[in-house]
Amino acid sequence: MSVQFPPSAAPLAAHPVDVLPVPVRRRLLDLARGTEPVSAYVYDGEVAANRARELRAALPGWAAVYYAVKANSYPGVVAALAPYVDGFEVASVSELELALEQGHFEDGVAPAVVAAGPAKSVPVLTALVRAGVEAINAESLLELRRISRIAVAEGVAARVALRVNPAEIPIRGSLHMGGAPSQFGVAEPDVPDVLAAARGLPGLDVVGFHIHAASNNLDADTHAAYLRWCVEWSVRTAAATGVELRHVDIGGGIGVAFEGEAPFDMARFGELAALVEPPVGVKVVLEPGRFLVADCGWYAAEVTDVKASYGEWFAVLRGGINHFQLPTSWDIVHNVAVLPVDAWEAGEECPRPTAEHTRVTVVGELCTPEDTLLRDVLVERVRAGDLVVFPNAGSYGWEFAMHSFLGHPVAGRHLL
Ligand SMILES: Cc1ncc(COP(=O)(O)O)c(C=O)c1O
Repeated sequence: MSVQFPPSAAPLAAHPVDVLPVPVRRRLLDLARGTEPVSAYVYDGEVAANRARELRAALPGWAAVYYAVKANSYPGVVAALAPYVDGFEVASVSELELALEQGHFEDGVAPAVVAAGPAKSVPVLTALVRAGVEAINAESLLELRRISRIAVAEGVAARVALRVNPAEIPIRGSLHMGGAPSQFGVAEPDVPDVLAAARGLPGLDVVGFHIHAASNNLDADTHAAYLRWCVEWSVRTAAATGVELRHVDIGGGIGVAFEGEAPFDMARFGELAALVEPPVGVKVVLEPGRFLVADCGWYAAEVTDVKASYGEWFAVLRGGINHFQLPTSWDIVHNVAVLPVDAWEAGEECPRPTAEHTRVTVVGELCTPEDTLLRDVLVERVRAGDLVVFPNAGSYGWEFAMHSFLGHPVAGRHLL
């Protein structure tokens, strides 16, 4: 794990408390009145719905938006998004079940669900084939063979899109799943041979390609270039390999701005996307996760202690990377706001530790120095009993955390 911290010469100032919407503050203060110390996520489904509306409105009619459930699988968030997305991207049977509950169908028949993942097991593939999903994004020839066997046994034709790891992509993001050796998909030079082998397999309907090659891209121009590249490459490759192209899935990867970054320019992306001309009858799927849900979530943890160690201040949280691992696993600075909680359960005989007008390092409850969420953030004041709140915690938050390490209770989840 790598943790990026702001350079100590230019300390990062904590957000003012008013970056937290009033309903979020109210809910957190309610939680703080409970008997258990707070470590909790609060989600606002309306914020996620607005993001989906924004993306949908920017895109041409041939594009479909499928929500990548892995980013946040809290049922209330998925349900809030459901009216504004065309379908779902899933990676497991539980995500599949959640998506099916939303009742989206492609052409009124196939569940509008696509599925990826480099190690889909036979039980997972069987569930996908039985559900009749719109496309299983196949990651290897062995996976194609497995899908074929399952489809034949079930007496159906399974729709598959071949997941491709392109040799080069016109995009930069904080994470790359393409353009480099990886466990994802089929390397571009191997695609013709894999498709030739797939042609001999019964029970498969190869509908197109899936390319999820980057994540957290904040640049609208390169994301549009990537979209164009995916469509043009798919058209060329389908023609050269005899695939009847109906489906091009460009994956997720639209980024969200953190500290000091410029946000993704959605209007610009929409303008450039409108210049791409996929052949009639080809559906282009975008599978965003982070963009749709990052800013609909806040992670809050109670400060259990405030202490100085050799001249440096630490705010120690009930929670940490066991509940919110994102800041330590992504190359981002995840800033916080301190929400004052005036009640102090220990009473006057037990002085309340406080750090004021100083830099503080925000750490969690685990017995490892890895459990450091933010270093050297300048705070006006933080006291034991206050809440430290991380905005932009709606994507890859609760789902991404190492819940079991040390066995503390998992973080709560609440929908506004
Ligand atoms: C196959 C696939 N599609 C979509 C996504 C969503 O990506 P993002 O949250 O960057 O939009 C992911 C994320 O890992 C993914 O693996």
